Amino acid sequence: MNFNVKNIRKDFPILKKKINGKPLIYFDNAATSQTPKCVIDSISNYYNNYNSNIHRGVHSLSEEATEEYEGSREKIKQHFNAQFKEEIIFTSGTTHSINIVSNGFLNQLNNNDEIIVSGLEHHSNIVPWQMMAKKNNAKLKVIPIDDNGELKLDDFKRLISNKTKLVFVNHVSNTLGIINPIEEIITVAHEYGALVLIDGAQSAAHFKIDFQKLDVDFYTASAHKLCGPTGVGFLFGKKRLLEKIDPFMGGGEMISDVTFEETTYADLPHKFEAGTPNISGVIAFGVAIDYMNKIGFDNIQKYEDGLLNYANSKLKKIDGLKIYGDVKNKTSVISFNIEGIHPYDIGSILDKYGIAVRTGQHCTQPIMDHFKIPGTVRVSLSFINTFEEIDILFDAIIKAQSMLS
Ligand code: ALA
Repeated sequence: MNFNVKNIRKDFPILKKKINGKPLIYFDNAATSQTPKCVIDSISNYYNNYNSNIHRGVHSLSEEATEEYEGSREKIKQHFNAQFKEEIIFTSGTTHSINIVSNGFLNQLNNNDEIIVSGLEHHSNIVPWQMMAKKNNAKLKVIPIDDNGELKLDDFKRLISNKTKLVFVNHVSNTLGIINPIEEIITVAHEYGALVLIDGAQSAAHFKIDFQKLDVDFYTASAHKLCGPTGVGFLFGKKRLLEKIDPFMGGGEMISDVTFEETTYADLPHKFEAGTPNISGVIAFGVAIDYMNKIGFDNIQKYEDGLLNYANSKLKKIDGLKIYGDVKNKTSVISFNIEGIHPYDIGSILDKYGIAVRTGQHCTQPIMDHFKIPGTVRVSLSFINTFEEIDILFDAIIKAQSMLS
């Protein structure tokens, strides 16, 4: 296996940092992945050497920036195997992308129409649809989850009907790490003529995704989970569908003709990219995708699966520790609680040992309500983590447990 974690870690300047006098152990990759030096450098290179606006100037700097920005679009298109470059819309992230689609369908649903959301969603894939359903009296239905946290697919098949217009599901649960059976969900939805939006915020960093093979209608991800900067992401949509929906934001760049009486919109992808975008962020996103491809997604997946299995079996040795979403088909996330101890208290003590985890509801209150818990401690892994770090985590949890019980 052509994968050397020691060398890879040298690419991440932040890993030299100490927290409370201890080397940083970063297990909050599902919230934000760390950033390799080549990505950081690409941002300073933009500001040092060709900072200017895109698609607007005839001058050399603007042409250079435009070329790099559009080059990123091409990289994303190729990496995810979209059919057309204009199917990739740059956004500020997954939340922005989902809002483009939910607002786009606002005027396209009728009173009796239904939309289906999974019970495993992040608030960002619940609230925009609730807002939309309320405005046009559409009915929002929920695919329930079972005791392990997996979606009840039989219930999905019972919920869906010819009235269903849209289905939205995350590819991987940010809270439980469960990989949802999106292939089957897309196939069933399409049999009923419903469109599917997949929130890929937690999947795109862990394995390769092929939009054409999936036949997915909309897919979205954020750069900051993929070794890129914050404030950038993309929405993929099939061209004929993006052409059919109205833009969410009006402004410069997204127009064809403007008079005080009427405006016509620009062609894709510009119709959805009003205003000056995060130019350096988009360019850095392309650099991050190149970086991850250089390591290789097969290598990343294999290594992370090994880490996950190791961490899973190690943490299960701790008395009173319960893992939520402990299923076979999952990636890179372990959410747990220790009997009698609040997750926040564990997280605070782990921080004293230099270990960064997320605690709380993880923007998924319905999952917490399902398990009747206030929150969890979430360890989210990535290819920059090591097996030794998991050993240190294990020892630190044991110490936290003895301090808090
Ligand atoms: N959605 C991100 C997480 O799960 C912020 O932590």
